[in-house]
Amino acid sequence: MRFNPAARGLAGTLRVPADKSISHRAALFGAMSSGPVRVRNYLHAADTDATLAAVQQLGARVDFDPTHPPGEFTLHGVGLRGAREVEGAVDVGNAGTLMRLIAGWLAAQPAGSWTLDGDDSIRSRPMGRVVEPLRLMGARIDAREDRFAPLTVHGGQLHGIAYASPVASAQVKSCVLIAGMATPEGATVTEPHTSRDHTERMLAGAGVSLERDGTRVTVPPVDALDLSAVDVPGDLSSAAFFVAAALLVPGSRVVLRDVNVNWTRTGFLRIAERMGARISGELEPLGGFAPGEPVSDLEIEHGPLRGTTVEADEVPLAIDELPLVALLGCFAEGETVVRGAGELKVKESDRIATVVDGLSALGADIEATEDGFIVRGTGGLRGGRIASHGDHRLAMLGAVAGLASREGVEVEGMEAAAVSYPGFAADLAKLTAR
Ligand code: S3P
Repeated sequence: MRFNPAARGLAGTLRVPADKSISHRAALFGAMSSGPVRVRNYLHAADTDATLAAVQQLGARVDFDPTHPPGEFTLHGVGLRGAREVEGAVDVGNAGTLMRLIAGWLAAQPAGSWTLDGDDSIRSRPMGRVVEPLRLMGARIDAREDRFAPLTVHGGQLHGIAYASPVASAQVKSCVLIAGMATPEGATVTEPHTSRDHTERMLAGAGVSLERDGTRVTVPPVDALDLSAVDVPGDLSSAAFFVAAALLVPGSRVVLRDVNVNWTRTGFLRIAERMGARISGELEPLGGFAPGEPVSDLEIEHGPLRGTTVEADEVPLAIDELPLVALLGCFAEGETVVRGAGELKVKESDRIATVVDGLSALGADIEATEDGFIVRGTGGLRGGRIASHGDHRLAMLGAVAGLASREGVEVEGMEAAAVSYPGFAADLAKLTAR
């Protein structure tokens, strides 16, 4: 699919799709709940549809009301310890979050065995990072080469853990907390840096008395989750593509409605502001921990940018938006450096390689480092051809690069966007049609 320079800029107001991370958790924690859970504004995209299908396979019931929007339904869960065995494998598709969180839940079931599998990307992503702590808790898990999907998880009584995670990963943290709730002792997870905290907020909303102290989180033993409703806000990671497009294309002014501004997700906005971006909105202050998820409208205008440096502590707070930081860096004055972001190599694609190769092919002056990249801003981008490598965020990056480029960009494999944002190209077209 081709994306031509947006000669007159982007203009208008948009409601971006619901948050992917929070939708996964709404379905999973809804399935673990004992009473019905009313879900509003659930994301229907490939990743989160896989989660809804998975929890139904495990015995949860989803009641849609045909008079309501499809994002609205009532989930009747099976309880924390009531997952049903399934025939064949649970198919997580492309969704790392689903794979890693559900593994924690199933390992703590009193009995039963489940095989978890997904697409080629999932089969190449590291699962040792959840297999290891779960085994330390007493879990029995079989994995290909001991660390890759497919995984077969055998339920059993686990014991508590104090786990110092070697990676700042919300997926690892969530997996251990979920398994830990079902132990007699509970669990503590410490991370090298704070990662997104949607699990903690949703569990707090379900009556779990979590304790948080810096990068340490503790869950107590839990009998039952009492989650009655989840309202899913707009996804900052989807909004970020329009933030970048509006910043880069002259003449742009865009308003994005009801975006999640949880501080553990808004690193990209802070990085962009440091680069000189004009963004208005009510961002949650750093360190906040409300049980719910804060939302705000965001207003973004085109303007000049300067280079910046992103260090390891900021990486997890902007992890999925770092490809966009590279793109902004191409247009900024001076150098933009991202360090301490080795985690990018184990995302839906190796995002250090795919971003550096992809943007280089469009004319960027960018080089890969061990744990990030360095971009020398040249004030623009020529354009050309970029491959998505089946990675939704690479596809959308290419599209935004096309609008901001001099010659346009052809994105190979644009359909990958459907993993998190099926209507992306249409929404982009709405903002550029003038
Ligand atoms: C996610 C956490 C992040 C992020 C992913 C979704 C989540 O991964 O990259 O898209 O919902 O917990 P890690 O926590 O593994 O870094």
